[in-house]
Amino acid sequence: MPDIPSDPNSPKYAAHMAKIDGCADCHTPTVQVEEVKGMGLAGGQPFRGPWGNVASANITPDDTGIRTYTEDFFLLVLRTGVVNGQHLNPVMPVLAYQNLNDTDLKAVYSYLRSVPAVQHRVDNSLTPTDCKVCKQRHGGGDKNSAVKKNWTNRNAWPVLLFSQISTVLRCG
Ligand code: HEC
Repeated sequence: MPDIPSDPNSPKYAAHMAKIDGCADCHTPTVQVEEVKGMGLAGGQPFRGPWGNVASANITPDDTGIRTYTEDFFLLVLRTGVVNGQHLNPVMPVLAYQNLNDTDLKAVYSYLRSVPAVQHRVDNSLTPTDCKVCKQRHGGGDKNSAVKKNWTNRNAWPVLLFSQISTVLRCG
């Protein structure tokens, strides 16, 4: 038996819960089994099957992730599989998590609040396109620029400009 941290309010317990619940197995993108660096829980991993082609969501505390989720809302989503009136794709194994008790779900929530926020847009309502950030092909992939941080970095501007210009050219 693995050592289960005894205090349910401790960050250790939270990390433990999130780990055994396997959130990262689907929510952290991988390339040939290796996790894509800096993309912990940031989503984008595609799953193709009878359920369609759906990518895992960004569940980091970023605006492009689940920053706006309150604890109550998180519990509701994990129990119902419904986000703002929309049923999540069944690949998200809501059934498996429905019976976790409040303490455990709250522990997972607090763990998700503690991980680095990653700016990464995943939108399953859009057509899958290549994503430079997570190295996958997913809905809204082309909306993510490889230049993520440090807008004052002078070298970033020409790259950004170039990518904007080439987007415009491709559209025209
Ligand atoms: C088998 C793969 C898989 C596992 C394991 C998994 N997820 Fe997901 N999850 C998905 C996919 C795919 C989606 C996107 C579903 C969609 O857009 O319809 C998703 C969506 C979500 C969303 C909705 C985000 C939003 O607002 O759009 C939340 C929250 C979430 N997962 C949390 C979790 C948590 C917490 C765990 C661990 C306890 C977990 N998931 C485990 C595949 C998985």
